[in-house]
Amino acid sequence: MKRVLSGIRATGRLHLGNYLGAVKGMLELANSNEYETFYMVADLHTLTTPYDKKTLSQSVRDVIVDYLAVGLAPEKSTLFVQSHVPEHLELAYYFSTVTTVAKMQHLPTFKDKAKQYPEHVTMALLNYPVLMAADILVYKAELVPVGTDQEPHLEVAREIARRMNQDYGTDFPEPKRFATNGEYVPSLTGEGKMSKTVEGSYINLTDDLSTIKSKVARIPTDEGKGSEILGGVKTLMEFVELFEGKEERERLEGLYRTSGIRYSEIKNELSKAIFKELAPIQNRRAELEKDREYVDKVIRGGAEKARAVARQTVAEVRRKMGLG
Ligand code: TRP
Repeated sequence: MKRVLSGIRATGRLHLGNYLGAVKGMLELANSNEYETFYMVADLHTLTTPYDKKTLSQSVRDVIVDYLAVGLAPEKSTLFVQSHVPEHLELAYYFSTVTTVAKMQHLPTFKDKAKQYPEHVTMALLNYPVLMAADILVYKAELVPVGTDQEPHLEVAREIARRMNQDYGTDFPEPKRFATNGEYVPSLTGEGKMSKTVEGSYINLTDDLSTIKSKVARIPTDEGKGSEILGGVKTLMEFVELFEGKEERERLEGLYRTSGIRYSEIKNELSKAIFKELAPIQNRRAELEKDREYVDKVIRGGAEKARAVARQTVAEVRRKMGLG
């Protein structure tokens, strides 16, 4: 069976952007029964930018609980924590021997983070894409459900796979991104994408109906009529499409261009549609939070299953690189 790997950094709870951009794709692939799926919490990647060591382990656990709450099942998918499988780190080191510094310095993701945290431009940050390539290739995964912003990282993984295969005769696949239709989720501010690091931009999976209503109410809008749909109005329409369908978006956009629309009703309906999707996830999470032992067992079992595969790949690479 072909393999799938994906991961989410442990920087707090999932928001709607992670959910639509990555988690829905993870679910789709897990439920297709055509793939062996590995889904991890990228706690080592969390260390590449400033973080709180007191809350890290809880954040890691929260992502596992979120995975379970959205409906990923440990019977179908290997759910695990990246740092519990140290083979990722070993493979990343071998991969770093075929990766140039210049290449890593030119990645847009590196430049963005370096600008955001000028005091933390570390080796680990530079190495971020190499570790990510190791995450994927240690399972020889061919498909990676992630958002579009991760495309440059996948390109690096493909280049590393090619290099390793050429120089050392390994058989790494060239992993491809698996796209979902919610891969670009706009920010509620009307500018850019939904992101945990931009205040007022996101809806959490844990938000209740009144919180969602007040956040949606803040999407900037205009007088409700015009010829071009831009800014916050466009954002609103994108959310309408994601949660109420393309037809509803077209209907509203038609009205905007003719008789005009009233935002209060639209925002109210949209908030209800978003909450309807989140409520069952929230109920499952409440159940899971009562069952510490079950979550612990999932985490332990996931690490064991992941390591069994990762060990084999690392042993093969060591042999082929002449390390014996
Ligand atoms: N870089 C990813 C992100 O920020 C997280 C990640 C780490 C990842 N390792 C991965 C995603 C491997 C997919 C596969 O979203």
